[in-house]
Amino acid sequence: MLISEIIRAKRDGDTLNADQIAAMVEGISTGAASEGQVAAFAMAVFFRGMDHAEAAALTLAMRDSGDVFAWDLPGPVIDKHSTGGVGDNVSLMLAPIVAASGGYVPMISGRGLGHTGGTLDKMDTIPGYVSQPSNTLFRRVVAETGCAIIGQTAALAPADKRFYGIRDVTATVESVPLITASILSKKLAAGLGGLVMDVKCGNGAFMDDLARAVELAESLTGVAREAGLACNALITDMNQPLASAAGNAVEVANAVDFLTGAHRDARLEAVTLALAGEMLALAGLAPDRAAGLKQATKALESGAAVEVFGRMVTALGGPADFVEAHASHLARAHLTRPVPAPEAGHVAAIQTRQIGLAVVELGGGRRVASDAVNPAVGLTGLVDLGVEVAKGDPLCLIHADSDEAADAAQARVLAAYSIGAAQSVPDPVIQIIA
Ligand code: URA
Repeated sequence: MLISEIIRAKRDGDTLNADQIAAMVEGISTGAASEGQVAAFAMAVFFRGMDHAEAAALTLAMRDSGDVFAWDLPGPVIDKHSTGGVGDNVSLMLAPIVAASGGYVPMISGRGLGHTGGTLDKMDTIPGYVSQPSNTLFRRVVAETGCAIIGQTAALAPADKRFYGIRDVTATVESVPLITASILSKKLAAGLGGLVMDVKCGNGAFMDDLARAVELAESLTGVAREAGLACNALITDMNQPLASAAGNAVEVANAVDFLTGAHRDARLEAVTLALAGEMLALAGLAPDRAAGLKQATKALESGAAVEVFGRMVTALGGPADFVEAHASHLARAHLTRPVPAPEAGHVAAIQTRQIGLAVVELGGGRRVASDAVNPAVGLTGLVDLGVEVAKGDPLCLIHADSDEAADAAQARVLAAYSIGAAQSVPDPVIQIIA
């Protein structure tokens, strides 16, 4: 089958059949489809869309482009995946909370993308932590501690790896069928029994309006269920950073403080516990989501979750005293600088994408895929929407390695924050698609 004919058919708005889609995915995996052809295909899908059957066929073909895990564990295998946000360190707390409640969470996470942070970059700030373990080590840690947060291996959905890299640089990420197939191919290959999607909605998310977020959530849950994977979705607010920290080491520190109870951001807590409750209910570990939320809260408050987190970090090569001594293990930036509010009033709006870009500006994210990220830099103490500030009060604290980078980040933060009259603040959990 000629790749160019498949692209032509999609360009002209035809519906592709499963054989055409499988041939395209094979071309992506083997390299038989050139980079230009893959980009043209992505753009054709971006503009023409795909129906449900096409998205499902693309998902399954991408899943089958590599290894598919099978687990034999004494409890349900369940995971969560976020569509990407700013200050979104939920996974670091959620995986141990669910593991401490009887679930097994083999969490295969990604690197930062554009203005959004990546769980893998955060885990990589922990000295010694092996975020790309062998399959044997990965399996052992999941079995023994209940969870392991690692990166995508080369053998898992390799078609997505190449396709995603090309989409990232050809402005074709924000397509519902392409995001659906990209996420679910990896999750199906991970051998899950259940998946809860955290679909972010707002000015810091890939889907900035509710109708698009619902469309994506319904596509993800529909295709997943058709492929035999139990899946519900929460649509959560991303009109402000979720944690009060954005960056890599600073978000890890925020997560450890959350787990120990030293400091918990309220919106982050609401989203994390809602997702945990949903996961426990979906996995059959709780009779319903309200009971799941109670169980998750207990796992957090009892210290069981932080204990699991500590064991996971150690099992994957991190320091044995990471929880107690994280401040001494995590990299620190050379300088810190508060960003003073330019006037008095309430925080009326935050351009969340700009906050993510401020982190990129500091070196905490990537401009191109090959960039190394600086673990130490970022923002802490980010002031929430609706909070009243006096002129000169800090909107956040910048952690930077140079004055120039701090200047650029400060300009972004000031442009991101609008100070004015008090506004109503969206609920952190907007909608549940079950
Ligand atoms: N995350 C993914 O893994 N893939 C996408 O396409 C978008 C977000």
